[in-house]
Amino acid sequence: MLRPVHRWIWSDFDRRVRKLLAFAEVESDGGRDILRAAQGTPDPLLRRLYLEHAIDELHHGHLFRERGAALLRTRAARANGPFDGSPLPGGHGLDNLRVEDEPDERLLAFLHVAEKAAAGRFAIYRDIVDDDPSTRAIFDEILRDEVFHMNYTYTQLARVSPRSYRRQVWRARASRLWKRYIGVAAAVANVFGTLVLVIQYFVLLPPFAWLAKRAARREPAGWTTIPAGRDDSLTRQY
Ligand SMILES: [Fe+2]
Ligand SMILES: [Fe+2]
Repeated sequence: MLRPVHRWIWSDFDRRVRKLLAFAEVESDGGRDILRAAQGTPDPLLRRLYLEHAIDELHHGHLFRERGAALLRTRAARANGPFDGSPLPGGHGLDNLRVEDEPDERLLAFLHVAEKAAAGRFAIYRDIVDDDPSTRAIFDEILRDEVFHMNYTYTQLARVSPRSYRRQVWRARASRLWKRYIGVAAAVANVFGTLVLVIQYFVLLPPFAWLAKRAARREPAGWTTIPAGRDDSLTRQY
């Protein structure tokens, strides 16, 4: 449904560079989070998988950064536009989850949902950047890793939490959806607030400006005499 929006975002050179650099940040951030998860888990198999996963994500961050920088070198990007960063929430990352406080099943469920979203999003981007073979090759490579991440997190979730893994995935999905909703709602509220202020400025303010101007015209110009007695000397303090 959003394909035309994605196409529009990726069609512009500067936006493309900013998107790639934003992805680089998200992927590296995700890599660091998963590295912390590897340090924290008591499960040796999960520790190994998390470690491989973290290395993949850090590598993705590096690939995106390098590609963004290479594009930048070909042409200096202009100043930031209104759609700096990510107008549509990206699919990846742990949404600032406190990795240290989360049990493995919650973390795996959350990772599974995030990786699935990332895989879907990157598949769309790969198709859209057909005019740019190098960027496309990067998406191709990353997409393969994301599909692996999506699958291993699900398999491991079913292993560590065989009774409740479906519920865990639904919970993670709901929490992710809620965060997306809050983000979109805040953006809409921002636009709405600006609109109301603009309307107030152009609709409510003019009558008051007109009244003030009319009152100013009625004021006599120059010095005015004050009633007798007001300029008597003061005889008391108050
Ligand atoms: Fe990734
Ligand atoms: Fe991933």
